[in-house]
Amino acid sequence: MKYNIAVVPGDGIGPEVIGETLKVLDRIGEKYGHEFNYTKVLAGGCAIDEKGEPLPEETVKICKESDAVLLGAVGGWKWDTLPGDQRPEMALLGLRKQLGLFANLRPALLFDELAAACPLKAEIVSGGLDLVVVRELTGGIYFGERGHKQTDMGEAAYDVEQYSVGEITRIAEVAFDMAMKRNKKVTSVDKANVLESSRLWRKTVTEVAEKYPEVTLEHLYVDNAVMQIIRDPKQFDVIVTSNIFGDILSDGASQVTGSIGMLPSASLATGNFGMYEPVHGSAPDLAGTDKANPMATILSAAMMLRYTFGLLEEADAIENAVKKVLADKYRTPDIMLNEKDPASCKEIGTKEAGDLIAANI
Ligand code: IPM
Ligand code: MN
Repeated sequence: MKYNIAVVPGDGIGPEVIGETLKVLDRIGEKYGHEFNYTKVLAGGCAIDEKGEPLPEETVKICKESDAVLLGAVGGWKWDTLPGDQRPEMALLGLRKQLGLFANLRPALLFDELAAACPLKAEIVSGGLDLVVVRELTGGIYFGERGHKQTDMGEAAYDVEQYSVGEITRIAEVAFDMAMKRNKKVTSVDKANVLESSRLWRKTVTEVAEKYPEVTLEHLYVDNAVMQIIRDPKQFDVIVTSNIFGDILSDGASQVTGSIGMLPSASLATGNFGMYEPVHGSAPDLAGTDKANPMATILSAAMMLRYTFGLLEEADAIENAVKKVLADKYRTPDIMLNEKDPASCKEIGTKEAGDLIAANI
């Protein structure tokens, strides 16, 4: 089969982790007889430098015409002083909105091989950890009305959090469908004791739950949820939440797995189309040092094979190759950091990690 993939290397470590991921995808193509065609496009800071805007129209067009999008990371110090609507991050938000990617899946999986990298006590995560944050991605405060106005306390700025029943329903359905294939538990996270938008969220999720009698639904306030993720993360199966709460909770959950450098994500539209990217950012301090962990992006490519292309065996092959490299005690610096017995491990760079994973397919 032939697959057309729009590739957005982006900024900072983006191009490096994408380079290793394409190496791994090419190996998959070779082994399983698929042809992956890549069209590289500009988005983020590099697009600002070359085209004068973070998300050129041409980029959106090519992404829309592709079967899937693979993205590294965008942003960096260089563009940090630009006005809000011209920052590299606008590329990401624009892609999410214009491609209709309303459902963001962020699995937090603690690999057995990395159990020692988890900062929690061993008994808290014994038997492994496997939860997924389903984050609403095209609504809420990220896309609500925003602006500045004068008040009697001086200039004020505001960003509006708003959710419709339709938006809540479709993201809740994604979460419940996912729970049906997993451990049949959904935890909906909101701030319904304070926010009107959260009260509508809670009511709507509760209504959706009626269509899924086999799934247990629980509601948590976001402040409590963050505490529970650290206290007892194994209680969770699927967490469904708003754009901003999902942003915060998924970073929290990532630390429990040892390193954000291990976490992939999928952003899905209706149908099979999706954009795949690591949860981590562009880490400008690591750019060009061969120190970045490419595994989050490589695992994102595995999600692309699974969710958009339906290539389950190929997706498993990538995940197993990552596990094998970890079992062989290879560690990029981010996962070496928490290693209990570093002397037994071998530190590797970005390129060697990509080579080893490809070699294990
Ligand atoms: C993420 C990132 C983005 C977000 C930023 C870079 C706009 O933190 O994907 O989690 O807040 O959604
Ligand atoms: Mn984030």
